Amino acid sequence: MKDAVTTVMEQCDRLADISEEPGLIHRPYGSKAMHEVNDIVAGWMRTAGMTTRRDQIGNLIGRYEGRGEKTFILGSHLDTVRDAGRYDGILGVMVAIACVQRLHDRGERLPYSIEVVGFADEEGLRFGTSYLGSSAYAGSFDRERLLLEDRNGVTLREAVRSFGGNPDAVERDGRSDEGLLGYCEVHIEQGPVLEKEDLPVGVVTTINGQSRIQVAFVGKAEHAGTVPMEGRRDALCAAAEFVLEAEAAAKAQPDAVGTVGEIQALPGAANVVPGEAKLSLDLRHPNDVEREGLRDRLEERAGEIAASRGCERLWEVRQETNAVSADEELSAVLAQAVEEEGLKAHRLPSGAGHDAAQMAAILPVAMLFVRCEEGISHNPAESVTREDVEVAVGVMQRFLGLLGGVHAIEEEAGQ
Ligand code: HGY
Ligand code: MN
Ligand code: MN
Repeated sequence: MKDAVTTVMEQCDRLADISEEPGLIHRPYGSKAMHEVNDIVAGWMRTAGMTTRRDQIGNLIGRYEGRGEKTFILGSHLDTVRDAGRYDGILGVMVAIACVQRLHDRGERLPYSIEVVGFADEEGLRFGTSYLGSSAYAGSFDRERLLLEDRNGVTLREAVRSFGGNPDAVERDGRSDEGLLGYCEVHIEQGPVLEKEDLPVGVVTTINGQSRIQVAFVGKAEHAGTVPMEGRRDALCAAAEFVLEAEAAAKAQPDAVGTVGEIQALPGAANVVPGEAKLSLDLRHPNDVEREGLRDRLEERAGEIAASRGCERLWEVRQETNAVSADEELSAVLAQAVEEEGLKAHRLPSGAGHDAAQMAAILPVAMLFVRCEEGISHNPAESVTREDVEVAVGVMQRFLGLLGGVHAIEEEAGQ
């Protein structure tokens, strides 16, 4: 029988072939590719002895019954950015399924049930907001988001419906925390620290907060050949000045990062002065007040730049998530599992956002990072080694056992 790690690596490879575009990994919320991935992963969950269901937003949920009343949640996301790597999100779901598969193969039942969740949208690629899946699962979905439109003018409401859910049921579809023990997510580090420490895994301390903002500059579309440079209201030039301003402001603020990942010039013709320029702005910081200060300063600067060029500024904060700390007790159990595997339990913060940040609203959360080569991620060159994945599987199997012990003691103590 194939060993667990081979299965995990092969499953990551298999899902990498399922994309909205040939030749690269691209799996936005509600896409055909996400339908296909949900069907395949549900089959792997059932093989591991789980029952499966989909919730209204389209999260895939596998359940492995235990002996007690409580449930522990494992998971990560199955959606991707465009031209993604094959491990971001996916690895966490596959490692979780591998842990359940082992219990199932041994006919073992823990003193608690396990739910493995494949979240439907963490990246926010299609609608510009992150965590649509985990915010719905954690009961913090804001129904206003149903009005959001993707690039083709399709609303999230329509997308939820065509993905098989009832959009009006999403907001009340979330899990409440009763009967839930906690959440643990395995995820690639997407940074260079574990490689520098020469460690296969690490325990996450905090997840940085983030602001996702849509900015637009509106000037005047004109003939590129006849209109003199003086007096143009070129929206793309205003946007370009703002992009460099955002970079400089983030550079000047310790621990801040700021990124313009998307930009669109409209109407988008070589011989037309752009009348409109749209861009995305992603701001992160471990301290929420600092991040909000940076956001407000950049909003002001965008207004000043627009005014100096005869343009109008549009500024829409699509989503904001505060920084989140992992639960100390749960992280201590995870660190103990790492140490019992003979490794140093290095603690490190996460610059990237994760579904654990949403789950922290209702549950104690912990995260295990897995080293990835040169910290590369959101890039097809993203890679992990078999050996490091083997360590992660071993740590998680041990963690679930330790949790069973802790939980059994608490149950006896009537907690
Ligand atoms: O953007 C992030 O931090 C994550 O990859 N969604
Ligand atoms: Mn990602
Ligand atoms: Mn991710």
